[in-house]
Formats: sequence, C-alpha cells, structure tokens
Amino acid sequence: MANHILINKKIDSYDKDIVISGDKSISIRCVLLASQAIGKSKIYNLLESEDVLNSLKTIDKLGIKFKKKKNYHEISGFGLSGYKIKKNTVINAGNSGTLARLILGLLIDTNKKIKLIGDKSLSKRDFKRISDPLKLFGANIFLKKKGLPLEILGTEFPRPINYFEKIGSAQCKSAVMLAAVKTPGKTKIFARKSRNHTELLFKNLKIPITVIKKKEIDVIEIDGLKNFKSFVYNVPGDISSSSFFIVLTILTKNSKLKIRNVNVNDTRTGIISILKRMNANILFKNKRNYKGEQIADIHIKFSKNLKSINCPKKYNSSAIDEFLVIFLVAAKSKGVSIFKNLGELNKKESPRLNIAVAILKKIGVKVIKKDNDLKIFGNPNLNLKKTYIIEKFRKDHRIFMMSCIAALAFGGKWKIKNKDSINSSFPDFLKKLNEIGCNFK
Ligand code: S3P
Repeated sequence: MANHILINKKIDSYDKDIVISGDKSISIRCVLLASQAIGKSKIYNLLESEDVLNSLKTIDKLGIKFKKKKNYHEISGFGLSGYKIKKNTVINAGNSGTLARLILGLLIDTNKKIKLIGDKSLSKRDFKRISDPLKLFGANIFLKKKGLPLEILGTEFPRPINYFEKIGSAQCKSAVMLAAVKTPGKTKIFARKSRNHTELLFKNLKIPITVIKKKEIDVIEIDGLKNFKSFVYNVPGDISSSSFFIVLTILTKNSKLKIRNVNVNDTRTGIISILKRMNANILFKNKRNYKGEQIADIHIKFSKNLKSINCPKKYNSSAIDEFLVIFLVAAKSKGVSIFKNLGELNKKESPRLNIAVAILKKIGVKVIKKDNDLKIFGNPNLNLKKTYIIEKFRKDHRIFMMSCIAALAFGGKWKIKNKDSINSSFPDFLKKLNEIGCNFK
C-alpha cells in the first residue's frame, strides 16, 4: 500500500461526536510506573501507538511481564528493585523522546550496562539535557555526541540532588523525578512550568512528593526508595491528538464537533487559551476530576471572525505540541500573529519550527522568522488551488497531520508522504478523519 495520502478537496461541513485515543504522555508514564509498582496494574484505554508499544517492549526487556486483556493492559511489577536485566541489554525507544528520557531515570541504579538506541530522528535529539542531571545522582552515562546511541551503567549508591530544570521540559523534569524515586533521601527539583502528569501520578500512587507552586517555577520534593502498590488507571483522551480536529472544525464552514472524554489538565490546554483569544468557539462541558487530572467533553464550532494573536510566552510550554495547528489558524485570521521563543520546537522529532515555516510559505502564507520568533500574516480569504507535495519532514507525525488539516481546511491538491508516521502517536488519525466525513485515496 502506498505510504502517502492524496487530498484533493476541502472537507464538507460536518456535525459529529467522536472519541480520540488515549493520552500519550500519560500512557507512557503509566507503563513505566506500573513496571516499578508491586503487583498487577490494570491500565484501561492505553494508547496503542508505536511510542507506547515501545514502552511495553522496553519493560519486557527489563524482565517485567505484561498482557493485553480484553479492554485493558495488565502489567506485573515487583517493586523498585524488580527489574531483571540480562547482560548486553539493548533498549530501542524507536521514535519516542518521552520513553527514551524517562526510562533513563529508572535505570540510574542498574548494575549492568544498558545500551539505548532509537530511530534516525530520535538519535539526533539532545540527551545531554538528561545525562547531565542523571550523572549528578551518580549514574554513569556514556554519550558519544549529544544523541543516541548511549550507554548507561547505574550506581549502587545513588545520592539525592538539588536540580534546577531550566528548559520547561516535562521530559527532563520527569526523568529526574523517576530517578529520585530510586534514590534514598530527598531530591529537590526547581522546575520551570511544564505538564504535570508525573506529579499527579506520584500523588495518586502515594509516592512521597510535595509540590509548591510559585509564579514561574514549581518546587518539587520527592522522598525516595519508597515502594508503591499496583494501580488501576483509565487513560483519558489526548488533547494533542484532539487539536488537529479542534482546528479543522474551527476552520470548516458550518461544522460542529464534540470530542468526548479529553484530558484538559491546564498544563496542556495552552492551545485552547490561545485559540479562544483568537475568537475560536470552543467550550468545555461535563468537566470532572479523575485522579487529579481534569477531563471534559470539548465542543467546537466553526468560527467566523478569527483574529490574530500576540501570543504570550506563558503558553509556550502548555501548547508545545500544538503550535503547528495554531499556525494554521493564524494563517486564516485577520491581522498579524506573533509567536516568540519557539526554539524548543526545533528540538522535537524534526526541526519542526523550520519545517512548519517552509510549509506555510509553500502555500503562500507570508511568514517572517527571526531567530525563534514568528510573524504570520493572516488572510481570512485563504483558499488554495495549486498542487502541493509534502516530503522530507523526518517522518514527523505532527507535520504529517498538520499538512492533512491544511489540505482539508484550505483546499488545493496535496500529496503528503510518510503516512505511517502517524503510528508514533495517533494510529487512528485517518480513521477519525473518515468518521467525520473525509474520503481518502
Ligand atoms: C512530553 C513532553 C514534551 C512534549 C512531548 C511529550 C512528555 O516534551 O513535547 O511530546 O510526555 O513529557 P519536552 O518535555 O521535551 O518539552
């Protein structure tokens, strides 16, 4: 089967009610934490994407059994010292930065050398941001350059650290938090704001943690080496995957969409705040709390009169994975939108900021990029007629999906390559587009 998609027309208006698959960040965290719990954990609605399947394969390599039951995954942990590691173990994190970084935190006490590898895109990413703090615990990490492959040999006597997480990266923060769980005594992390799923799961599992929220940072203290019990968890829908459908609906005349059971934790909803400021019609209904996470049904309507935004930097972390589609809304809004300090986007699965700018320019949107700041000159009459080929984007799943949304919202004839990239985070993406009325070749 061809590994590209052809889209030749805009989507017709729709009025639908859908469910989006489980949150990727929470799914990976549940797998890793269940692998260190005592007993059998049950995880319902686990996202079955490659990043999560690679997480399951990883814990299997570490001697932890899992089974897929009818509607949940069962993971049998043996506590904090329960990994059984063979000589010459190689862990392949595939495309997943979250898995690769978080697992290193759990391996700071391993007494055998483990090699960590990944696909081409992951191998190019920055692991020094993780090896630096983990070395402070006493772990040995052997990096050739900044990326993969790397090797880790833990320490028998990890020591707690004080660490300032300056990037606002949840992956760095969480890797240090997981290392703290394997370390006796109190680890203190001063962390720039980022998604807090690890903190909420720790609280839920009664792992000793205190979080003091300050204006710019959170001060997190973890008391380590306390075993915790297995758990049951029902993973809510992923707002990052939902964002493609939110934006498509905002941009599609006379359309309406309800997405049920989505995680709307406010460390993840930067996209909603940004789009509402741009006049988008989005409502959360049926809001509820699930183990500290906020869940809601999201109601979206076609939004006329979209206006530009001077996007406050405070949203950069909580919208980090959603900027690509936010740029599409900016392209169709009245006025010039400004986004600042988006350098982290170039450190994702691809140099995402640069590629997004190239795609916007390709479709005739005026964009000025200076350093890591963007000005997008919106045009409410944007309507495409030409042919566009999207390729060479390092198989970045979010670039693929952004391109599909641009095609369906703005028109034109599109050939978008590397369809299988969606398997990293959202294998059901095309099926969900079908559900709202797209027919693809
Ligand atoms: C993630 C954190 C973010 C995000 C990634 C998932 C996580 O990365 O981009 O898709 O699950 O912790 P950073 O923490 O590197 O910003």
